[in-house]
Amino acid sequence: MVDNTKLHPLLREPVQYRTWLRGLDRPKVLFETIPEQNEGLMKLGARHIVSARQFDRQSLLALCRLAAFYETMPGLPCNPLQNCILISAFFEPSTRTRISFESAWQRLGGTIMSITDSSTTGIAKGESLQDVAEMFSNYGDLMVLRDNQNSSVYKMLEHLRIPIVNAGNGTDEHPTQALSDLYAIFKWRPDLVMEKGDLIEIGIIGTPKKMRTVRSLLLFLSMISKRIKKVYLINPENDIFSPGQREELEESGLGVEHVSDMKVLKQLDVVYINSITWIGDTYERMDEELRLSSNSPLKDNAIILHPLARGKELARDLDETEHNWYFAQARGAVYMRMALLTAVLGRAHLVANVPMIKATH
Ligand code: CP
Repeated sequence: MVDNTKLHPLLREPVQYRTWLRGLDRPKVLFETIPEQNEGLMKLGARHIVSARQFDRQSLLALCRLAAFYETMPGLPCNPLQNCILISAFFEPSTRTRISFESAWQRLGGTIMSITDSSTTGIAKGESLQDVAEMFSNYGDLMVLRDNQNSSVYKMLEHLRIPIVNAGNGTDEHPTQALSDLYAIFKWRPDLVMEKGDLIEIGIIGTPKKMRTVRSLLLFLSMISKRIKKVYLINPENDIFSPGQREELEESGLGVEHVSDMKVLKQLDVVYINSITWIGDTYERMDEELRLSSNSPLKDNAIILHPLARGKELARDLDETEHNWYFAQARGAVYMRMALLTAVLGRAHLVANVPMIKATH
């Protein structure tokens, strides 16, 4: 007989499987709101995925629809990636991206070879990324790469005969994180995919010129600029954009304003906070004065998104509030990555009504 009195209280009971914080109704509504857009999936077939610039509104919506389909399905009718092998190469630390990519791939029925340290490959002996890419082409069906250099993904794709998906390249881009951010925003407000409803105001606490998540998010937001009243970049520094970055966003119709403090917080519908920038082999944190807590003057229905490892900038007392969409954002990333992987490997016809894409690799 076990003496429960000597056990931690949570060891005395079965695990309480928590249903998702924001429920399954929202992805169901999103799935029903987005019209079928198979072309949006087909154009991603057999493509390398490196930049948010490769997407348009149609492919963004098609991916959100397929992600919502996956999220609401208790079990898939088939394993669309059966017999497919993922090479998951993360040459920089990751919690969310690697594990959610690997979870997505396994949920689709595929198998994985995971490399979490480049020093376990020939790179430690001076082998070039180009030659590693040539080798990887023989061993897997798709590669996901995270690397601290902006150029690595481009060096590899020139020598790969399988698709590569960028899971964060230096300070440049993180397109699949931004896809997951948009998926969370659309689940919160499915009407944003239509041409009606109130416009939203978004605040981004971050540095667009050196935060890859922010750079990719802004590019995706420019695809839905008609539904956004303004994006505020909140940062006390003066020089926050890389050359041409702000102009590119404004040309797309996205209204962007740089403010130095949190005074706009009370009018924001979406607050995106990101304090870490990975630079080379280490990371920098933003000004620690820019923090959110349950005492912050947030709008009643405002949602908070946070894509990275949490620091002091996001207080735990927000976790149990309605503002917490950062857990849903992280969970949804699995379904968004399932959708993207299915589309890139041309397997969407197996799970949705999408014509078969002939892979060219
Ligand atoms: N979003 C993101 O890049 O988080 P990880 O560093 O945990 O993968």
